[in-house]
Amino acid sequence: MDPVYLKPVTDDIRQQCIELRPRDDQLSFVASNLNSLQKAAEEKTCYPYAIYAGDFMVGFALFDEEPYPEDGCFWIVRFMIDRNYQGRGYGKAGLSAVLRKQKEHPACSVIRISHVPDNTAANRLYKGLGFKETGQFINGELVLDLEV
Ligand SMILES: CC(C)(COP(=O)(O)OP(=O)(O)OC[C@H]1O[C@@H](n2cnc3c(N)ncnc32)[C@H](O)[C@@H]1OP(=O)(O)O)[C@@H](O)C(=O)NCCC(=O)NCCS
Repeated sequence: MDPVYLKPVTDDIRQQCIELRPRDDQLSFVASNLNSLQKAAEEKTCYPYAIYAGDFMVGFALFDEEPYPEDGCFWIVRFMIDRNYQGRGYGKAGLSAVLRKQKEHPACSVIRISHVPDNTAANRLYKGLGFKETGQFINGELVLDLEV
């Protein structure tokens, strides 16, 4: 597999990032990247990154690099792999890169993520990397935590 790494979303790659899309049947699982970039501009603790595999932009992640003030957790707010690149291990490698980055922060003790209940692929991906269901729902989404 090509090396998978994160790049901050800067103006020169912003449009390409907006054009990444999940499959049509996954549209209800994740907001558009345009919406996520708008949210990123409003939130103080989270930052947007493009996920690359070699030279190609394959996905997008928006995540906390500081504790979220309300619960002290490091949230992964948005995560997606473009429909043309799914099923090749990039989700797992991209999410692992996100976790590595968050764990660099000394205050990172809980990483938190959520998904709509019927998103079974996300559930398997997250549990495969050590997340556990908390039993909590926030805005109708199932919450999973990773203890660092
Ligand atoms: C969920 C998503 C990120 C997975 O990305 P991916 O690149 O296809 O995932 P990978 O190829 O790295 O697979 C990693 C794991 O995900 C799970 N997975 C991926 N596709 C799956 C599917 N169709 N059905 C069930 N599990 C699946 C598996 O556990 C897999 O691990 P395994 O191969 O060891 O079983 C991708 O499907 C996606 O972007 N979906 C739309 C957006 C979304 O739902 N984001 C999450 C919002 S909370």
